[in-house]
Amino acid sequence: MDSPSRSGVFQAQTDKRLEAFAESISFDRRLYRQDIRGSIAHAEMLTARGMLSGEEFALIEATLKEIEAELDAETFPISFELEDIHMHVEQALIDRIGDTGRKLHTARSRNDQVSTDVRLWVRESLEEVDAKLLDLQRAFLSRCDQDFDVVLPAYTHLQRAQPVLAPHYWLAYIEKFQRDRTRVADCRKRLNECPLGVAAVAGTTLPIDRQQTSQSLGFDRPTANSLDTSSDRDFMLESAFVLSVIASHLSGWAEEWILWSTVEFDFIKMPQAFCTGSSIMPQKVNPDTLELTRGKAARVMGNLQTLMLLVKNLPLAYNRDLQEDKPPLFDSFDTVIASLSLAAPIVEGSMLRRESIESRLEKGYLDATTLMEWMIRKGMPQRRAHHLVGAIVGEAMGRDVPLSDLTLDVMQSHAAEIDESVYKVLGSQNAVAAFVSYGSAGPDQVRSQIDRWKKRLQ
Ligand code: ARG
Repeated sequence: MDSPSRSGVFQAQTDKRLEAFAESISFDRRLYRQDIRGSIAHAEMLTARGMLSGEEFALIEATLKEIEAELDAETFPISFELEDIHMHVEQALIDRIGDTGRKLHTARSRNDQVSTDVRLWVRESLEEVDAKLLDLQRAFLSRCDQDFDVVLPAYTHLQRAQPVLAPHYWLAYIEKFQRDRTRVADCRKRLNECPLGVAAVAGTTLPIDRQQTSQSLGFDRPTANSLDTSSDRDFMLESAFVLSVIASHLSGWAEEWILWSTVEFDFIKMPQAFCTGSSIMPQKVNPDTLELTRGKAARVMGNLQTLMLLVKNLPLAYNRDLQEDKPPLFDSFDTVIASLSLAAPIVEGSMLRRESIESRLEKGYLDATTLMEWMIRKGMPQRRAHHLVGAIVGEAMGRDVPLSDLTLDVMQSHAAEIDESVYKVLGSQNAVAAFVSYGSAGPDQVRSQIDRWKKRLQ
């Protein structure tokens, strides 16, 4: 059997080598639900516009649902001869109901059909990504109260910088994933225009109603230019970008917690259910889930690159190159959804190594900047305070003690303005408690951010 897309103009059969080269059924088969949904909406519109009778519509609809059930059950026969999911469904319809089935493709092309199908698929998948992002935000939020009394070093340049409450870290990731969610919503909004009825490239001379199909498929409106629509894959580029940013956030977090779970940091213990062992070293408990999260992010970013390159030189409008859009698009969604699904239980099930964190918290002079700001509050110009505290830290380093262990005499030998009350801001606990600015790492600010997120995410 040759493909129904080969009209009477052909006098030769398709070469088998081309068939294998050109098929997309091996990967676009997963669009079958969207394809059938689109076909039913199209047939309904053709009926309303007098191009199908009520009985014909009923027969088409029932048969499409039968085909869908077989695809669900994986009993539906797949063959490279029929190229893609669109031809498979249409040919099965024709095989079962003859000429009535031959009417379905009226005023439609696979060009508007594939674009409609993928938009429907991406729309649903974006919703799934959003739900997974929300789960992960909730996982971070669920740690905030239990870890409220833990102080962690914040790093810049991966050097100890200033003390922060542990939930300040968790809130940082909640913020990142919230921005991702707004990008997902934005992407969904822009893709939600219906290509159906654009047909191949110029529209149709038949009296279709594009408002109707757009509405019944849940789109905001039909697309306005058939040439543009036939070629447009912006929504795929945007999704692949949004997914790349999510993958980048996940990868950075994974990297951080891989470091934190080393003997060298010893900040966190991950749930063993998400760790793996070594086939030779019996002591190993490896953070492979996070390493794979970091590694798979590379694939997601590569997929964005593939899609960008795919479209960059295409003249208007549809070109068959575009068939290559689906594998990278699907892979990005699959990879990010899987990574998010594993991240949430790891975040929820990990334990901070409180004793280990505390035992080294006074290393690294996390309170030095707080001391400088204390001197500024006493009226000292910032540059002088910065210089003096540097000298005091140098003195403490020489003695290998934290700042709070220096006597008042020693401190006053550097700056006569220093008095007894300085000890109220020294030490990481005191230093973190002194933060007051909006969005800072201190208890009042962190508490109010936790409360704000609890209201937003519940
Ligand atoms: N399988 C094709 C794709 O994914 C469907 C559209 C084919 N259109 C065509 N004119 N050959 O792009």
